[in-house]
Amino acid sequence: MVTGGAGFIGSTLVAALLERGEDVVVVDSFSPYYNPAAKRAALAAMAGPRLSVVEGDLNDLELGSVVRGADAIVHLAGQPGVRKSWGDDFLTYTRSNVDATQRLLEAVTKHADGARFLYASSSSVYGQAETYPTTEDMLPQPVSPYGVTKLAGEHLTSLYAESFGVRAAAFRFFTVYGPRQRPDMAFTRFLTSARDGSPITVYGTGEQIRDFTYVGDIVAALLAGVEAEGALPRVMNLSGGSSVSVNEVLETISEVTGRPLDIRRLDPVRGDVFRTGGDSSLAQRALGWTPVVPLAEGLGRQWDWVASS
Ligand code: NAD
Ligand code: UGA
Repeated sequence: MVTGGAGFIGSTLVAALLERGEDVVVVDSFSPYYNPAAKRAALAAMAGPRLSVVEGDLNDLELGSVVRGADAIVHLAGQPGVRKSWGDDFLTYTRSNVDATQRLLEAVTKHADGARFLYASSSSVYGQAETYPTTEDMLPQPVSPYGVTKLAGEHLTSLYAESFGVRAAAFRFFTVYGPRQRPDMAFTRFLTSARDGSPITVYGTGEQIRDFTYVGDIVAALLAGVEAEGALPRVMNLSGGSSVSVNEVLETISEVTGRPLDIRRLDPVRGDVFRTGGDSSLAQRALGWTPVVPLAEGLGRQWDWVASS
């Protein structure tokens, strides 16, 4: 079962699971955050006897019957986006990232005993980390309301593992990119502007650094997590290993696309961290996983997707 299976990371995972011959249940509300029609089209392209889609909000659905029979539940549904999580929008974040996670975990304890449960956490739980590459034992100090809700979901996951024996693990994803990336994220915005000849907006100096991670590498780790027999660490970083500034990304985009870029600079945005960088050796040891797609190659694949959209 893949919650959020119509989204960017979710639909990429669903395609990989179907390719392996698994039966997949997607649960997704087709939230209005971005383009529900594109999400529907992505799932329609994978339609077949092995894929069922349950449309609904995790806060409203009768979850007992949905989770019953699942061997593994990959919980990707949530309200993403660091910069929009302030103000009145916070309610959407607590509802989709905290309330929905608690409700799903309750259903798992009662109706899906023994199922593997994987939670999509985020590098944003670290805030401005004290050391790089950051290890999982660093004190999380989120600097965005979004990061606070992802950390709460992570704690709920650990709590239900401790209290009810749910076979759970949380993965802290570091800025994921690749085909089908959300339209609010940097690479989709930059590549779309390169394609259309429209202005690119850089927040702050552009010297902020991210440990960008290719979506196929994230999916490979999730597949390894689904298949793992024994206990897994409570929390693992999933980071691609790049330590690249936004300005350096723009240089690579210029080379990959061969297009002129019209770059405009705005003030930094509250909630953005200056740097992320994960030590993923724990996940590498626990899962026998390693990220393999270098940034220029992954950007090239995302450019092919944007250029043909
Ligand atoms: P996405 O928005 O593309 O996918 C999330 C999906 O969840 C959407 O299809 C949405 O309709 C669905 N959804 C939202 N609220 C729901 C609810 N209450 N009930 C049912 N469905 C709901 O986002 P994404 O980029 O694919 O991210 C997937 C997960 O990974 C999120 O939990 C996000 O916080 C986390 N994450 C993403 C990144 C990244 O770089 N993309 C990094 C760290 C963590
Ligand atoms: C991303 C996701 O959006 C979050 O859901 C996720 O939890 C987070 O990664 C994470 O790793 O935890 P972010 O790092 O902000 O958040 O990813 P991008 O939207 O790709 O932004 C990367 C950088 O580009 C940021 O510094 C941002 O300020 C900058 N940016 C983004 C711009 O300069 N201009 C833009 O138009 C968009």
